[in-house]
Amino acid sequence: MKNVAIFASGTGSNAKKIIEHFQNSPIARVTLIVCNKPGAGVLEIAKTHGIPSLIIEKERFFSGDAYLPLLQEWQIDFIVLAGFLWKVPAALVTAFPQKIINIHPALLPKYGGKGMYGSKVHEAVIKASEKVSGISIHYVNEIYDDGTTILQVTCPVDENETAETLAAKIHVLEHSHYPQVIENLIKQPDSKKS
Ligand code: GRF
Repeated sequence: MKNVAIFASGTGSNAKKIIEHFQNSPIARVTLIVCNKPGAGVLEIAKTHGIPSLIIEKERFFSGDAYLPLLQEWQIDFIVLAGFLWKVPAALVTAFPQKIINIHPALLPKYGGKGMYGSKVHEAVIKASEKVSGISIHYVNEIYDDGTTILQVTCPVDENETAETLAAKIHVLEHSHYPQVIENLIKQPDSKKS
């Protein structure tokens, strides 16, 4: 049984889907929510599902031990970012090779990078008159939104699309693909505990 930690600092709708997907799974369980924002919706979701959460602080994350000893104590095998806006420090990337993934609400490499999150992404897509947007699931390295792509799924950007309507479409795609992608990766023989 693999232990999955979800790093999330927002509403947590993806976290909820992932938690529920693995609730009765024979292969993995979400055992920890890591969050940098006290009061974030995801903390309530964790509580409802009886999953412990860890509130992290900037200084320790970036200049201290990056919470690595704690993650090891929790025997975390796989890290899923779902609305986590801080860059993942090198110490974690190195300690979890190919075991940290992220989801981005656009088709990377476009509309990614620092500051490109939430409605800003969708506004940029609409402003550029893109006809298609979608989701990108990718491995995490030390550069924002830069690791190898695992899956991209597209959706049309309709006439009169707003950031809100596009966000809603993208969330549907995220919820229907992210949990299964995580399951597939965990099932791969090379994602066993190192
Ligand atoms: C998602 O759109 C994801 O692509 C991005 O952050 C958002 C998180 O949404 N990285 P939620 O908190 O899971 O609803």
